[in-house]
Amino acid sequence: MTPSAELPARPRVLIAGAGFIGRAVAEDLAARDRVELRLVSRRPPARAGAAIAAVAADLNRRADRLRALEGVDVALWLVHSLDRPDYADRDPALAAAFARDAAAAGVKRIVYLGALGPDDEAAPHTASRHATGRALASAGVPTVELRASVVIGRGSAVIEMVRALALRLPVLIVPAGAQALTQPVALGDATAALAEAALGPARPGIWALAGDDVVPWSALLTLSADLLGRALPQLRMPFATPRLSSLTLAALTPLSRTMSEALVRGLGRPAIVTDPRRRWPAPAWISLREALAAALGPGSDPKDSQ
Ligand SMILES: NC(=O)c1ccc[n+]([C@@H]2O[C@H](COP(=O)([O-])OP(=O)(O)OC[C@H]3O[C@@H](n4cnc5c(N)ncnc54)[C@H](OP(=O)(O)O)[C@@H]3O)[C@@H](O)[C@H]2O)c1
Repeated sequence: MTPSAELPARPRVLIAGAGFIGRAVAEDLAARDRVELRLVSRRPPARAGAAIAAVAADLNRRADRLRALEGVDVALWLVHSLDRPDYADRDPALAAAFARDAAAAGVKRIVYLGALGPDDEAAPHTASRHATGRALASAGVPTVELRASVVIGRGSAVIEMVRALALRLPVLIVPAGAQALTQPVALGDATAALAEAALGPARPGIWALAGDDVVPWSALLTLSADLLGRALPQLRMPFATPRLSSLTLAALTPLSRTMSEALVRGLGRPAIVTDPRRRWPAPAWISLREALAAALGPGSDPKDSQ
């Protein structure tokens, strides 16, 4: 991909947040060799690949932000504090500070991966992700906000939760109100879209990033169980069971309590494309089954490498 006209021929790209998505998009961009890459988080990966400068920085500190932003043309914001109970306020505040410093540093474009879901009646997690997007755009740097439901890829916290439940649950209890629809996206499609948003023609604004499959949340589990060779019967409950669902997640999966609660509270809300004109375009999408098979396939279980 040739970088867009308003960017230099070899743009400097900052990837803020070396988590599941940040690392994957860094690898995708590194393979294109037309960019200079800086991957920043408090505990960056020890082995990030020769083409990636992995830098330790706490973006809550202004001095660290200014150092991370020096000479940067495009910034991808993939920071998330879901490990902290106060993430809902903390994330937008940090994003606003970053946006101000990015504008002052001459950053030409910000790209952010947020959460797919309605603006009204959004679950607290989704509302906080939307507020983070508004904060990033607030200082005047053209901002592309891609909103995704769940990103399906090897090693994500959600995939390890799905694996644990699909392997351990004798029966899937589906509470009333937890059958909202979701429209996941494969990790490969998500990183390609983030790379295109970073380097391709300028397309500021909010976009839905989603594959073609629209399914109820429970299908992630039943489909995964099927791929892992297990039958997972469903038991539908006539009432909501948020506490039971959170306790099940805490007992059977590696998810933190904050993450379990955020997930359970989101189950009743749809996370799908509502306006096809604002769906990020792609020549083809990886199917959900294919994405799950790749994420759960041989060699993917972190326990096997311990
Ligand atoms: N994963 C999905 O399925 C999914 C779906 C839709 C949208 N998204 C969005 O994608 C973005 C990234 O998600 P993710 O799954 O990659 O999250 P993640 O794995 O939790 O990564 C977030 C990273 O942010 C870094 N971070 C947090 N506070 C920081 C600070 N003060 N300074 C520097 N780095 C900091 C953390 O690294 P350190 O601990 O090393 O600092 C962490 O690895 C989020 O906006 C999320 O809403 C993800």
